[in-house]
Amino acid sequence: MFIRLLSYLKPYAAKLSITVVAIIIYAVFSSLSIWMVGPLFNLIFYPQNMTEQAVTNPISSHPLESESDFALDLKTKINSYVNSYIITDTRLGTLYRICIGILIVFFIKNVAYYLNLYMTSLIEQSVVRDIRNELFESIANLSLDYFNKSRVGTLISRLTNDVEIVNVAIAATFLNLIKDPLLLFIYLFIALVISWKLTIISLLVSLSMVFILYRIGKFLRKQSIQSQEKMARLISAIQETISGMRVVKAFATEEYETDKFKKESTDYHGTMSKVLVFRKLSSPISEMLGILAITIVLWYGGKQVIIDGSILPNEFIVYLFALFSMMQPLKAIGGHYTRIQEGLAAGERIFDVIDTVPMIINMDNAIIADGLRESIEFKNVSFDYGEGEILKNINLTIKSGDVIALVGPSGAGKSTLASLIPRFYDPSKGEILFDGKNLKELELKSLRRLTGYVTQEVILFNNTIRNNISYGRPDVSEEEIIKSAKMANAHDFIKEFPNGYDTEIGDRGTRLSGGQQQRISIARAILNNPPILIFDEATSSLDADSEKKVQEAIERLMKNRTVIVIAHRLSTIKNADKIIVLDNGVIVQSGTHEELLKKEGLFSKLYNIQFN
Ligand SMILES: Nc1ncnc2c1ncn2[C@@H]1O[C@H](COP(=O)(O)OP(=O)(O)O)[C@@H](O)[C@H]1O
Ligand SMILES: [Mg+2]
Repeated sequence: MFIRLLSYLKPYAAKLSITVVAIIIYAVFSSLSIWMVGPLFNLIFYPQNMTEQAVTNPISSHPLESESDFALDLKTKINSYVNSYIITDTRLGTLYRICIGILIVFFIKNVAYYLNLYMTSLIEQSVVRDIRNELFESIANLSLDYFNKSRVGTLISRLTNDVEIVNVAIAATFLNLIKDPLLLFIYLFIALVISWKLTIISLLVSLSMVFILYRIGKFLRKQSIQSQEKMARLISAIQETISGMRVVKAFATEEYETDKFKKESTDYHGTMSKVLVFRKLSSPISEMLGILAITIVLWYGGKQVIIDGSILPNEFIVYLFALFSMMQPLKAIGGHYTRIQEGLAAGERIFDVIDTVPMIINMDNAIIADGLRESIEFKNVSFDYGEGEILKNINLTIKSGDVIALVGPSGAGKSTLASLIPRFYDPSKGEILFDGKNLKELELKSLRRLTGYVTQEVILFNNTIRNNISYGRPDVSEEEIIKSAKMANAHDFIKEFPNGYDTEIGDRGTRLSGGQQQRISIARAILNNPPILIFDEATSSLDADSEKKVQEAIERLMKNRTVIVIAHRLSTIKNADKIIVLDNGVIVQSGTHEELLKKEGLFSKLYNIQFN
């Protein structure tokens, strides 16, 4: 999981290595800046022996041989090395060198620090982009069944929130995971070189501090997962209310929706407050623990300086500085741990979506469909959305060039049956043959290019009329757009607009009437000149006048095409070659208008309800 997240860093390996180098430089110069405190301290407090001390072996100044030879040796080496650059004959000269040294060391340290931050942000933003793009692509390629099951808000939250969290976890934390332990290690090294006994005491105290921070982190992680879920619910609520604003207004449910939202919002606030209280608490707690450690060291080490002199005062100062400096990375490492855990949780949610295999995919050697020559044949087709069969054992042949009407009560399964033809779903039993080939063998895009789909619920995008008609085909010519608009009976009203085809139609086409929206969606469906057209109650929600215009367009389009019409008003399908009557997922009758009227049955019953 962590490895998979890290793999997103791979394309940025070059930048990453620069960052790592910068981090190392930063760490080295950080410790150098601490080491320089020693000579400075000596210069100020021991003016007389500054020069001699640099020359004499420090071992002689240690009355007790408490340190190991190796540590002492190293200490001496580092000291004489640093001193050889700093010490001059005069105190003023030494001060001058120390000042210059401080400036140089801090300058390099900060340049490296900035380089590190700069590179890290670059990488971070690139990684966010990559994950977000991959996620969006996966979502766009999922088949419809997935969207029946998931809430829009949840998906939006995956794309926004979760990607951000993952970002913080991988880029920043990954790099800090190099920096902070490295710093810690170097400071620890300095401390050990000066006095290993003191260091063991400080480490014991530090470890208990890390343990307490770990407990807080664990609690935070649980809360944080909860808060993410609640954030997703919040986004869902926002999204649903805004897209259903017309209904909210019509039913005057502003207050109801607001109350509902406030409840979710309060819920989120509750969890988040808990998270924040503890997150903020972790900083003062760790500082207090750190100070506790330092005072213990101050007491114990100070005694060694004052009473037995086993540690030199200037060394002790450097030691304290190193110990102080250790607190920051130590604190940070605890934080990284929490953030990585949060990131892993978010990453899991993201990969859940990315790894979902669409139900409807191409077969390996999918055949390109380039037209319907013979027929579409349903053979013993059954279908369910997951909870009970909606279509039961359907047998039906749609001949090329025929107009087939599907009628039946609402909920009978008409839309479901029609949606199997462009393979929005696969049958759960039986098969659909397209010119004798199983639908599943056809290349999806080519199949869908052959079918134009017009539904009762028109979905238009917030764009111009032109772009809505030419949706997905930016290279289409002006003539083609106008031709489709004319066939869909839309050209006349489009011309009337001051901006014509460049009119912006508003969110979901709200600036157009229902009939106008429907005619634009028809123009869009026929732009490709598809040989198969499906009209699913395309006129049902329209007023009489609009219905007439849309109906005219549909009839014009029926010529030379295979058409499936689902109609509510039975008068509109008189001329169909075959009428299929569906009830409860079963074909109960079929035949022409006249044949069906003569027989007793569901069709004549429905007809009588409408016309008598
Ligand atoms: N996306 C879906 N998920 C689950 N059930 C669905 C879905 N779409 C439709 N149904 C159910 O399938 C049945 C048939 O629906 P539908 O094909 O839309 O009927 P019709 O178009 O004849 O009114 C209904 O009981 C409906 O509740
Ligand atoms: Mg329907």
